[in-house]
Amino acid sequence: MTARNQLRVLDLFCCQGGAGMGYHQAGFNVTGIDIAPQPRYPFAFHQADALAYLARHGTDFDLIHASMPCQRYTRCQQIQSREHPDLIAPVRALLQQTGRPYVIENVPGAPLLDPVELCGAMFGLRTYRHRLFETSFPLARRHHPRHLAPNAKMGRPVREGEFMHIVGNFSNVPLARDIMDMPWATRDGLREAIPPVYTRHIAEQFLAAPLAEVAA
Ligand SMILES: C[S@@+](CC[C@H](N)C(=O)[O-])C[C@H]1O[C@@H](n2cnc3c(N)ncnc32)[C@H](O)[C@@H]1O
Repeated sequence: MTARNQLRVLDLFCCQGGAGMGYHQAGFNVTGIDIAPQPRYPFAFHQADALAYLARHGTDFDLIHASMPCQRYTRCQQIQSREHPDLIAPVRALLQQTGRPYVIENVPGAPLLDPVELCGAMFGLRTYRHRLFETSFPLARRHHPRHLAPNAKMGRPVREGEFMHIVGNFSNVPLARDIMDMPWATRDGLREAIPPVYTRHIAEQFLAAPLAEVAA
């Protein structure tokens, strides 16, 4: 493993870099991989299939993050019974083959192993944006605050005291950028992203853990 002040993280399925930015803020050197071009990605980027890249280069990194597309597990897609490949099991198998510590992120309902749920309200964000995180190293559970603020209705302006649901063809991109803390991102990037504060929190726990606990 590299000295802890120059650790490298591989950000698989990186999109415009919500997750990647959190690792950067925690001091990691970030490399992103996406099947689509990502001109807004703020760090080193390779356009590639994440599974192929992971199989070839995964061991070059100190920590590997994977945010595979979540459509297969979201409720509306299940209702519409659309076909989406299950990438979680094959990516987990490849991650385990690298022997490197890893983080898998997805939506509630996804088949992650003993995941920790993060919510925007835990970090003072004006969005709930629940996401699950499976980690190969210990990750403490946080207190989940009660949801006191209502979500603004889709398609209506977000009023004082309301939270924003950043999905689909939402309006008010500047507000979403502000809430997510992703000023570089487009609507497409924001609706796919996790707020950087989530991965910053995970990265800080990874860095604080005794080396024996994070070693794969
Ligand atoms: C949910 S988004 C990731 C969001 C990102 N973690 C963030 O916080 O900004 C999923 C991304 O996976 C990409 N993708 C889908 N299949 C892929 C594959 N086989 N290899 C690499 N990227 C892929 C999509 O282009 C999309 O940008």
